[in-house]
Amino acid sequence: MSSQISLAKNSKVVSTDELSKLKDSSLFRTEAFVDGKWVKAASGKTFDVKDPGTREKIGSVTDMDASDVRKAIDAGNTAFESWKKTTAKQRAALLRKWYDLIIENKDDLARILTLEGGKPLIEATGEVLYGASFIEWFGEEAKRVYGDVVPSPVANSRMVVMKQPVGVAGVITPYNFPNAMITRKVGAALAAGCTVVVRPAHETPYSALALCELAQRAGIPPGVINVVTCSGENTPEVGRELTTNPAIRKVSFTGSTPVGKMLMEQASSTMKKVSFELGGNAPFIVFDDADLQIAAENLLACKFRNSGQTCVCANRVYVHEAVYDEFVDKFVSLVKQKLKVGHGLDEGTTFGPIITERGLAKVEDQLKRAVNSGAQVIFGGKRPSLNVSGQFFEPTVLVNVSDDVPMSCEETFGPLCPIYKFQSEEEVLRRANNVPVGLAGYFFSRDIGRIFRVAEALQVGMVGVNVGNVSSEVSPFGGIKESGVGREGSRYGIEEYLNIKLLNIAF
Ligand code: SIN
Repeated sequence: MSSQISLAKNSKVVSTDELSKLKDSSLFRTEAFVDGKWVKAASGKTFDVKDPGTREKIGSVTDMDASDVRKAIDAGNTAFESWKKTTAKQRAALLRKWYDLIIENKDDLARILTLEGGKPLIEATGEVLYGASFIEWFGEEAKRVYGDVVPSPVANSRMVVMKQPVGVAGVITPYNFPNAMITRKVGAALAAGCTVVVRPAHETPYSALALCELAQRAGIPPGVINVVTCSGENTPEVGRELTTNPAIRKVSFTGSTPVGKMLMEQASSTMKKVSFELGGNAPFIVFDDADLQIAAENLLACKFRNSGQTCVCANRVYVHEAVYDEFVDKFVSLVKQKLKVGHGLDEGTTFGPIITERGLAKVEDQLKRAVNSGAQVIFGGKRPSLNVSGQFFEPTVLVNVSDDVPMSCEETFGPLCPIYKFQSEEEVLRRANNVPVGLAGYFFSRDIGRIFRVAEALQVGMVGVNVGNVSSEVSPFGGIKESGVGREGSRYGIEEYLNIKLLNIAF
């Protein structure tokens, strides 16, 4: 087992000291945001939030239960009555102000995000900008929600299709993108004229609360955005309330496939509109005609973004046998050169910790099972030794991994990169599609015929061709198969928050 990883300039970060470096400390909130007010749970209970880079407590946040959530839903429902009547132009102006404030405060938002979510500060800043782009985009899209005039089959009637906001949306977001997964959903909801009750992940509530503070400063009216924070213990009951309360008309969730299935079942009790962005297991295919340097650079970013904790991260890398050795050498030397493991706030860090203990345990378990079945670790492979005692795992590259170990069949959500050899297009497509999920897939080739054949044959919702990225505010983000339903971002994303109404007008 090899261990040549680079470490960032390895100071001893003290998480709470880092909070004092915020330019605007009022962005760090510890209470929930309901009906335009900062409120505590009726029980008075709180839960602790830790920095995954040090395992130190950053602070405590109010721990809401179902009864608190009902009050937030009521607030959202009352606010909906007036918010739905605002013009698209008014909503667009408020979203633009919110966007401007996010940009003005991006450094603080990024610091908060790194402290709770672990990602390197430079990557956290990237997420804040990515998150802001959804607010800007959906503010603009608000003005482009058009209806239709349908040719009627009856002479003396006219048919008009109008679009109306669905109502209060329940929004449940994950820990890996504490900022952007909120803005991608809330931006679309507000632009459509819906109000929201957001439950951020208990590991990363602070980014959500900071966004609320800025939304309030932007003038978004009370009750339009509500954020209910809760501990892991209260998460099931809060989730159940958001998916079963009759006043909630839409549920949007990003997270794992098993939890998505459960929430979808719960939401079916009142037939809510749903969009679910669930787990992936992205194939990343390098054909023998690919530009290997470009493919290797893209794999580095695609696989190790957020230390592998992204649902569109490459999970299985297939390389044609004719270029396999050359590609693996190029890739490993990039990993060695570019990835510096450390606390996200340490200078030079490009690779941070695993956000949860259970995530780290899963990485170790998948690695052990692959190695026990004959896989070879050619880079990384263990917890690094650092000055901070966070949940770190080295970026790890493996070869000779069999197709039937968990690493090959399930999403890793961590920094393991198995590289498999293949011989033909038909074979690699069969292996790439041989999973129950289908979120993103990537391939590298310069043959135009193959580009269309493979792009059409990959069973995924998003394909990167000669690029390891599919995400942006204009991209319809979402999957097929067990990766979920619905699309976020793009002009399609706003449709998820709208009902279609037909007017059949006889005269
Ligand atoms: C995710 O991992 O859930 C989202 C990733 C992205 O938006 O690129």
